[in-house]
Amino acid sequence: MSTTTTHLCLSLSLAFSLILLSSLPSPCLSKSCHPDDYKALKEILTSLNPHFVPPNKDCCNWYGFEDTCNLKSNRVTKFSIFAQTISGQIPSAIGDLSYLEFLQFHKLANLTGSIPKSITKLKNLKFLALSWLNLSGPIPEFLGELSNLEYIRLAFNQFSGSIPSSLSKLSKLEYLRLDRNQLTGSIPESFGHFKDGIYLYLSHNQLTGTIPKSFGNVDFWNIDLSRNKLVGDASMLFKPNGTTNSIDISRNLFEFDLSLVRFPISLGQLDINHNRISGSIPKQLADVKVQNFNASYNRLCGEIPLMHFDESAYIHNKCLCGPPLLAKCK
Ligand SMILES: *[C@@H]1O[C@H](CO)[C@@H](O)[C@H](O)[C@H]1NC(C)=O
Ligand SMILES: *[C@@H]1O[C@H](CO)[C@@H](O)[C@H](O)[C@H]1NC(C)=O
Ligand SMILES: *[C@@H]1O[C@H](CO)[C@@H](O)[C@H](O)[C@H]1NC(C)=O
Ligand SMILES: *[C@@H]1O[C@H](CO)[C@@H](O)[C@H](O)[C@H]1NC(C)=O
Repeated sequence: MSTTTTHLCLSLSLAFSLILLSSLPSPCLSKSCHPDDYKALKEILTSLNPHFVPPNKDCCNWYGFEDTCNLKSNRVTKFSIFAQTISGQIPSAIGDLSYLEFLQFHKLANLTGSIPKSITKLKNLKFLALSWLNLSGPIPEFLGELSNLEYIRLAFNQFSGSIPSSLSKLSKLEYLRLDRNQLTGSIPESFGHFKDGIYLYLSHNQLTGTIPKSFGNVDFWNIDLSRNKLVGDASMLFKPNGTTNSIDISRNLFEFDLSLVRFPISLGQLDINHNRISGSIPKQLADVKVQNFNASYNRLCGEIPLMHFDESAYIHNKCLCGPPLLAKCK
């Protein structure tokens, strides 16, 4: 390929001005994409944009879709659209891109409706991001059938109903974000089967009930349950021999004795603000190199063992004392 054509291919990588290109010859000559993928991709893009006209048959080199195909197989393995002004629903033809491993719709406020059932045909799917859209209805149980999924991000939508317990069947899952939706009900007990090291974000929903006891079996890397209506004990999240980096349980109704907790040495972030947590802050926390800490708005008492946070990390407790607070310990 000449420098000029390479430059042309690259400089055209702005999705959805496809119509402009339809009258030009294909600038990037290579093996054409598989006819089944061409058909599916054409159908998907037409349903998202009625004015879409395929520029040519080589969907592996379409404008804005340059890294869509696997270079060896020439099958479409990646589909990603973000920050466009498109509206409508996720086309069910997405399920016909049978070699898809990476699927992303991101920041499309006018994309509505639910997750199509046809997605269960994507047996190779590893990465699923449907985020900052306006999807609604329940998070479908059938996502649990996509056994190769490693990464799921459904954050910033209008999903409602309870969290499907089937997600725990995804034995390769390393990352799950369901935050900033309107999910209700309790956290499935089966989530205690997740593998160690998982990132779990369930914050900014309306989840109720207690944290499943089974969470004591998972060494989360990052767990964020903040801004829900969860009650009871959260102490099982703290595993002294674990490798957890970040725990955020702020703005819930948790009620347990912090004095009894031992922290993993790996803990970098701990936010427990706005709960009903009692007891004292364990001295052991001073041995942990925690970089962010907030225990404000709880029912804590006793001497503060950490000097390097300002008083806003401790305000509105029952009887915490010592610096940085003005109250002296007796
Ligand atoms: C969504 O649709 C409305 C009405 O058709 C339009 O005004 C707005 O620009 C669209 N927003 C985006 C981000 O596409
Ligand atoms: C999302 O959908 C709701 C109705 O389902 C609508 O009221 C709202 O304006 C939509 N938001 C955006 C950003 O399009
Ligand atoms: C934590 O590790 C120490 C030393 O490696 C071991 O003695 C102890 O039994 C472990 N505790 C738990 C709860 O696994
Ligand atoms: C702790 O949380 C409270 C309440 O959200 C907030 O006002 C304060 O700025 C936070 N302080 C720190 C050090 O994070």
